[in-house]
Amino acid sequence: MPIPKDKKIIIIGAGVFGLSTALELSKRGYNNITILDRHVPPVVDGSSVDISRIIRFDYADPLYARMAKEAYQGWQKEYSDFFYQSGFVMLAKDASNVYVNKSMENVRSQGGQVDVFHNANDVKKLYAGITSDFSGLYATHNASGGWADAEKSIQRLASECSLAGVSFITGPQGTVHSLRQEGSRIVGVNTVNGGTILASQVILCTGAWSNRLLNLTHTASASGQPVGFIKLTPDEARELENTPVMINMTTGVFCFPPTPGTNILKLARHGHGYATEAVSETTGRVISSPRREGSNAKSGYLPDDADEALRDGLRQFFPKLEGRAWMRRRLCWYTDTPTGDFIIDHHSALDGLFVATGGAGQ
Ligand SMILES: Cc1cc2nc3c(=O)[nH]c(=O)nc-3n(C[C@H](O)[C@H](O)[C@H](O)COP(=O)(O)OP(=O)(O)OC[C@H]3O[C@@H](n4cnc5c(N)ncnc54)[C@H](O)[C@@H]3O)c2cc1C
Ligand SMILES: *[C@@H]1O[C@H](CO)[C@@H](O)[C@H](O)[C@H]1NC(C)=O
Ligand SMILES: *[C@@H]1O[C@H](CO)[C@@H](O)[C@H](O)[C@H]1NC(C)=O
Ligand SMILES: *[C@@H]1O[C@H](CO)[C@@H](O)[C@H](O)[C@H]1NC(C)=O
Ligand SMILES: *[C@@H]1O[C@H](CO)[C@@H](O)[C@H](O)[C@H]1NC(C)=O
Ligand SMILES: *[C@@H]1O[C@H](CO)[C@@H](O)[C@H](O)[C@H]1NC(C)=O
Repeated sequence: MPIPKDKKIIIIGAGVFGLSTALELSKRGYNNITILDRHVPPVVDGSSVDISRIIRFDYADPLYARMAKEAYQGWQKEYSDFFYQSGFVMLAKDASNVYVNKSMENVRSQGGQVDVFHNANDVKKLYAGITSDFSGLYATHNASGGWADAEKSIQRLASECSLAGVSFITGPQGTVHSLRQEGSRIVGVNTVNGGTILASQVILCTGAWSNRLLNLTHTASASGQPVGFIKLTPDEARELENTPVMINMTTGVFCFPPTPGTNILKLARHGHGYATEAVSETTGRVISSPRREGSNAKSGYLPDDADEALRDGLRQFFPKLEGRAWMRRRLCWYTDTPTGDFIIDHHSALDGLFVATGGAGQ
């Protein structure tokens, strides 16, 4: 049963899941919402933040393809200042790549149009910035895709929440040590500074950290994906200006055009990822999770083979930049689920707890 609109709701996590949940609840008339996070949004080491995120239509699952199309309207309206319609290209060894084929069929079944290139080198006729050799590759292209400034979008979303009357608590007072349980009901949270915050409803939006607070085991496990940034000169950036967002589905490496003004080139790999072991402060179990204290983005650590895979990707996509030093590197965290689906539901055994996570790399 839904709780009365004036009852207190706590949302743990100020990433895109937590913030958009708060804003939507507030639009539906809930007026006692508090968001807790380790840090002030945009949270530096959150999965929702850094300079860019791909905005694409091409999803192999029809439901997500439909949601992406719906979300696109927001990128063209309220969030248009942060959206760059550079175009989106998927590369694969051949047309039999199941993900690429299904994605294309989803767009077409929605009445949309996808360009197909049996020789991916033909993509270069559309984008003068591409200089790499795409021989032997197959490509699909949707000119409406592109990328968003993730950090600025999150900042805007957080600010909208605040204007809608949502409260924020960050730092040790907002860092949750554990869920507070009475019988089979979650009644609030215990924070790391020893405080307690009670609520009628707790919503867990803690992304890759979720296993620290709740025993989700393999239902939602964290995997670190490597990301690298390169600072280009203004001339180099100009040369690469007319490039789409591209992903090589065979290697999992994807890249963005240089960011306007700051000239930063970003490359990342979507792969099996890396697990980091940690002991949960709450359950005492060894889990895969980023650390809770400080910032996971600060050290710039990448496993050697992750760095190598990014380097290969750099050489394949931008041959001229081979050997260039990274300005910054990081692991960014997926919350992987067995089917790649989001987990958005009431907890099946604990009353008062709702879970919204599973931002996996689909
Ligand atoms: C490398 C990489 C590339 C990606 N690329 C794309 C892309 O191009 N396009 C796309 O659409 N999606 C992409 N994604 C996926 C997308 O970024 C994620 O699905 C999404 O950001 C997840 O949001 P979230 O709110 O669940 O997580 P987060 O943004 O990580 O939010 C979780 C928040 O919970 C807080 N928290 C955790 N534990 C606690 C605690 N105990 N107490 C208080 N606060 C806590 C954290 O500080 C954090 O701010 C990518 C992800 C990665 C990792
Ligand atoms: C929010 O809920 C708490 C706990 O029930 C209550 O003490 C507080 O007065 C409420 N605030 C508002 C603005 O309704
Ligand atoms: C794409 O998938 C459809 C069925 O969904 C199939 O008929 C078609 O042969 C596939 N194309 C390729 C090139 O594999
Ligand atoms: C891109 O995908 C959208 C959504 O499915 C579709 O409407 C559109 O026709 C596609 N192509 C272009 C060029 O926009
Ligand atoms: C977590 O869940 C797993 C799988 O259901 C179970 O085997 C394990 O005992 C649980 N651990 C804790 C600490 O609850
Ligand atoms: C894409 O992946 C294939 C297969 O690994 C590789 O041969 C090719 O060089 C890659 N191309 C780009 C541009 O990433």
